[in-house]
Amino acid sequence: MIGGRSRRILITGGNAGLGLALAKKLARHHKLLLSGRKSQIEVSDTLPRGAGYIVADQADPEMSTLALVRGIRDFGWDSLDNAVLNAGIGVAPGEGFDSTEAIRQTLDVNLMAAILQAQALFPLLEKSKGTLTFIGSVVHTGSATIPAYAASKAGLHGLARALRSEWKGKISVQVLHPGPAKTGIHDKAGYDPGRMRALFLKSDDMASMMASAIASRRSPLTLSWVRYLNGGAILGRRL
Ligand SMILES: NC(=O)c1ccc[n+]([C@@H]2O[C@H](COP(=O)([O-])OP(=O)(O)OC[C@H]3O[C@@H](n4cnc5c(N)ncnc54)[C@H](OP(=O)(O)O)[C@@H]3O)[C@@H](O)[C@H]2O)c1
Repeated sequence: MIGGRSRRILITGGNAGLGLALAKKLARHHKLLLSGRKSQIEVSDTLPRGAGYIVADQADPEMSTLALVRGIRDFGWDSLDNAVLNAGIGVAPGEGFDSTEAIRQTLDVNLMAAILQAQALFPLLEKSKGTLTFIGSVVHTGSATIPAYAASKAGLHGLARALRSEWKGKISVQVLHPGPAKTGIHDKAGYDPGRMRALFLKSDDMASMMASAIASRRSPLTLSWVRYLNGGAILGRRL
């Protein structure tokens, strides 16, 4: 906890993978509101006890942003200490080229929804001088195998830099760039990392690095093996 205070934390994509691992880590000390595409019934056994849940399918960026804002209000919150915009997808291109549909879906879910969410959540974060965190990826600098995904993450990097400057003094804005971690995202994307998978970090360790990176409010931050080997999953500030 920062200053021993329980915080109101929203995590998009909080029902699986890194978002869920982060939520489980924070659930003991903080109040959580999670979102995802799946229905409440599908995820009710998965979520940490006490966490609220909002169905918000980011394939429709406008509708999902409205659903998020409505869900926060219905949960009784009028402010946020942290918003972690983590939901994301990848789509591995079939014949070396992404289909137009896959490009649009990737940009809608990963980038467009995050832009609209950032704008919509700003007033709630401003009330508590909170922190807005975008979850990017180390591939934001470019990747041969998943170009649309890399482009969406490069977009988040630029967006975070712009908003960090624009909203300076009002809220903190940061972008975190995780390296590969063991979650379901690669299988869902139709991408087989093969033997490289053995080198992926455990989602729990990545979530620990995310939590201390969020507490630090620094940006941009790369969360990869180098940080992990330097104690990134056990050292650093606690959220
Ligand atoms: N794992 C890695 O190696 C890695 C590396 C770098 C960056 N990242 C980034 O980390 C974030 C989390 O990834 P992950 O590995 O935890 O993936 P994951 O296990 O596949 O989880 C993805 C999360 O995003 C949600 N999501 C997907 N499509 C959505 C949609 N259309 N609308 C709303 N929510 C949606 C999922 O909800 P549903 O289950 O309801 O679909 C799920 O909660 C992503 O932004 C990813 O790009 C991951």
